Amino acid sequence: MAEKTLVIYKPDAIQRNIVGEITIRFQDRGLKLVAAKMGWYPVEFWEEFYAEHKGKEFYVRLVNYMSSGPVFVTVWAGENSIAIARQLAGATDPMEAVPGTIRGNYGLGLPMNTVHCCDSEEAAEREIPMFFKDEEIFEW
Ligand code: CMP
Repeated sequence: MAEKTLVIYKPDAIQRNIVGEITIRFQDRGLKLVAAKMGWYPVEFWEEFYAEHKGKEFYVRLVNYMSSGPVFVTVWAGENSIAIARQLAGATDPMEAVPGTIRGNYGLGLPMNTVHCCDSEEAAEREIPMFFKDEEIFEW
């Protein structure tokens, strides 16, 4: 299968009902949706997910925010899907994200920057199995 990336629609995206608006960006860019689910994950889950940020001043705020409500978790496949998704998401800080990108249009600030995307192949290999079993990812 083509390169895969994980995109998490964060709690601020769910609360503002913009799942459709975000999904259209990835669809229009030609990426293929191969897995999706909604879930509400506890703080301990996010502590593991964001383990690389442990100790940073924003870590506790970040994991509390991510566990504050449900998220929508997707896997997108396509050539260069990791780089393409990052381009569509825009800069991590919505104040620096270019208008037209997802965070540039919808991001509220930090940590409420609307989406998470994998930043490398290694990240995708680690992050996707935290949400999906192999049989929940569809080749079509
Ligand atoms: P994400 O792409 O999910 O990766 C790490 C997350 O940490 C990031 O998006 C933001 O939600 C959050 N984050 C990064 N830097 C800061 C910061 N300076 N203050 C608060 N949250 C941050």
